[in-house]
Amino acid sequence: MTEVKDTPKPDLRTGFSVHEIPDGGMVVGRAGTEDLILVRRGAELFAVGAHCTHYHGPLADGLVVGDTVRCPWHHACFSLRTGEALGAPALDPIACWRVERIGDTAFVREKLAERSVQSARRGTQAQTALTSVLIVGGGGAGLAAADMLRRDGYEGALTMISADDSPPYDRPNLSKDFLAGTAQDDWIPLRPPEYYAERRIDLVLNSRVSSVDVRAKRVELEDGRSYGFGALLMATGAEPVRLDIPGAEPSRIHYLRTFADSRAIVARAASAQRVVVVGASFIGLEVAASLRTRGLDVHVVAPESEPLERVMGPEVGRFIRGLHEAHGVAFHLGQSLSRINGRQVTLSDATTLDADFVVLGVGVRPSITLAERAGLAIDRGIAVNEYLETSAPGVFAAGDIARWPDPHSGNRIRVEHWVVAERQGQVAAKNILGHRERFDAVPFFWSQHYDVAINYVGHAEKWDAVEMDGTLDARDCAVTYKRGDRPLAVATISRDLQSLRAELTMESEGTK
Ligand SMILES: Cc1cc2nc3c(=O)[nH]c(=O)nc-3n(C[C@H](O)[C@H](O)[C@H](O)COP(=O)(O)OP(=O)(O)OC[C@H]3O[C@@H](n4cnc5c(N)ncnc54)[C@H](O)[C@@H]3O)c2cc1C
Ligand code: FES
Repeated sequence: MTEVKDTPKPDLRTGFSVHEIPDGGMVVGRAGTEDLILVRRGAELFAVGAHCTHYHGPLADGLVVGDTVRCPWHHACFSLRTGEALGAPALDPIACWRVERIGDTAFVREKLAERSVQSARRGTQAQTALTSVLIVGGGGAGLAAADMLRRDGYEGALTMISADDSPPYDRPNLSKDFLAGTAQDDWIPLRPPEYYAERRIDLVLNSRVSSVDVRAKRVELEDGRSYGFGALLMATGAEPVRLDIPGAEPSRIHYLRTFADSRAIVARAASAQRVVVVGASFIGLEVAASLRTRGLDVHVVAPESEPLERVMGPEVGRFIRGLHEAHGVAFHLGQSLSRINGRQVTLSDATTLDADFVVLGVGVRPSITLAERAGLAIDRGIAVNEYLETSAPGVFAAGDIARWPDPHSGNRIRVEHWVVAERQGQVAAKNILGHRERFDAVPFFWSQHYDVAINYVGHAEKWDAVEMDGTLDARDCAVTYKRGDRPLAVATISRDLQSLRAELTMESEGTK
């Protein structure tokens, strides 16, 4: 493994000694002005772009698994043969170059045209008699599904209906860089406007589906329009839990789920000095961090004794609290909100805080009303099988709404993770086209607090032991959550490769 350094990179067109690259290892170089990695896998050599197409993560710090490379930052997976983004969160391919080996020297030759990357995939496309696919929901799962349907050669009608007024966007960014003011508006859409026309995706925005008839294969919208479908993907996500707070003027209360919500908080923050954030979950804390970056006084109110305690345990919780306190956030833990009167926010212990506005981040509920009314099997979410198909044949569900049989924990689980939503969208798309691919990805999420990124692989609702490798204070550690001898999940800080390796181990272990 070679790290990307600022030192000049060798031009790999002039040749590189193959024996200097260990099996499964890589070197960073360039072809002219473009950065690439040269990867050796057994006798094979691959040259592909050095940066992930999600957020530009350095693939040289990632992990080679078979003929793929995984990104160290958020675990996107790329084919070394074609450059294709096989696993979200990256959706676009990386470039590929032809490599020629002469004796012990590998020469990077011409860049392969993207056309040939696509045609390499065309041979694996599913044959389907399907003529129309409808996706309800324009979030991470919906967009990734539409993208995969077209990538996989589906040429029939494709409609995506979304209650949102914006085309699909990077929802995780809404509480991070965008809210902090370090990402501009135009970074947020997942795809440029012309993408939908080019891929013939009929994107119907600002439109809420009010009913689904799975027998007649039709959905109705609130405004009376209706759409038929051959196959249906439900990807309606989740919505924030809304609290009824005595005395609160709605204009002082903000929730954060949509791009519009985030823009409204940004606009409000521009003339504000003090905010109360209710909830010490990932979203609440990311909002706190971003609004501190904007210079606001931030108070966090939450019932737990440590933030994130339920998900990550008290030790990580204490560290996260300390990190936020060091950045000036004041915590009011063991407290709830009892009343808001103008600028005055009263807590359960009668403390009063002055605030220009309040952000409520007290959890979400899966948006399953449509599915319930349609008669689909429900299990605290929409119940799906390992192919992400619901109880109605030809109707699939993906993302925050789906509860699936997770082969790693052996339980039926539902999570609220961006990468899982996108990957489920991708697998559902393949299964709509008849591939019969199991969804068996190990859950993964990340969260960003100032300059500290936490990566988490696996799923641990309850554990009986926590193993710490490294230290939280040094911001260099891996925390393993175990039941008996079995690791259920691993949270890492500055240990990206360890996180990728833990994911790989969990994948290979499957159910025990
Ligand atoms: C601010 C924020 C930050 C986050 N940060 C992270 C993070 O750092 N890491 C991480 O792993 N996860 C993060 N998440 C969670 C992640 O964004 C979700 O897990 C993910 O968006 C789920 O995708 P989805 O497609 O299932 O649902 P969504 O992205 O919520 O999309 C649902 C779509 O369905 C539409 N819809 C709903 N009902 C209807 C209807 N009746 N008719 C038509 N359309 C409908 C909605 O308008 C929306 O377009 C974050 C979430 C938020 C809100
Ligand atoms: S930067 Fe590579 S997955 Fe996010």
